[in-house]
Amino acid sequence: MEKTVQLYEGKAKKVYATEDENLCIVSYKDDATAFNGLKKGTIAQKGIVNNRMTNMMMQLLEKQGVPTHFVKELSDRDTVVKKVKIVPLEVIIRNVSAGSFAKRYGVEEGIPFDEPTIEFSYKNDDLGDPLINDYHALALKLATKEEIELIKKYAFKVNDVLKAYFLTLGVKLIDFKLEFGKTAEGQIVLADEISPDTCRFWDAKTNEKLDKDRFRRDMGGVEDAYKEIFKRVTGD
Ligand code: TMP
Repeated sequence: MEKTVQLYEGKAKKVYATEDENLCIVSYKDDATAFNGLKKGTIAQKGIVNNRMTNMMMQLLEKQGVPTHFVKELSDRDTVVKKVKIVPLEVIIRNVSAGSFAKRYGVEEGIPFDEPTIEFSYKNDDLGDPLINDYHALALKLATKEEIELIKKYAFKVNDVLKAYFLTLGVKLIDFKLEFGKTAEGQIVLADEISPDTCRFWDAKTNEKLDKDRFRRDMGGVEDAYKEIFKRVTGD
């Protein structure tokens, strides 16, 4: 499988067409941004970590009954995925208070919830990805009622699977962001990535941050954090 034309360049990935109209190749970059692109940088080897880690997570989730866009890992940075139309919703699940939740509601980070929470943001950079609820998403025709219900069901399933998996690696899954897409046949599948860019991972013993918050917050040790989570996931 080979890349033909570039279809899209995002903040962290490029997407290429292939000879097969139903398949794309995603190519992971080392570029990192935060705060809707205001902060820019690179994280050495991030593209490799995020590509390989995402593919492992997608395969684990497929086995547990969550359909995904994953088809085949081609190389360290490149992966074949099903061509989908991305549903313009960022789906955020939280197990522990952190980030914008802590800030918005004036609570400390690190308070575990009895039940996971879910929220949506409208994926629109010009508007700064505003928070949105199911009714607004329906009004804006971003997805159908059935699709939104399915997305919520899959998102909580992803949380159950990944929370348990990361705990076996001595990692607490604090929160994460998912994106879903619609295939040519109209199937809703998990798309985008599952990586330290899109999840908060804290060491279970020390609460050390092993994710992109180290970049967002200028904490240092960014590359080492990506390497550490990669080591726990792959053993490499
Ligand atoms: P938040 O606390 O800043 O709302 O972030 C919640 C989770 O979503 C966190 O794991 C980081 C992830 N996230 C993204 O993947 N992309 C984004 O643009 C933002 C703001 C957060």
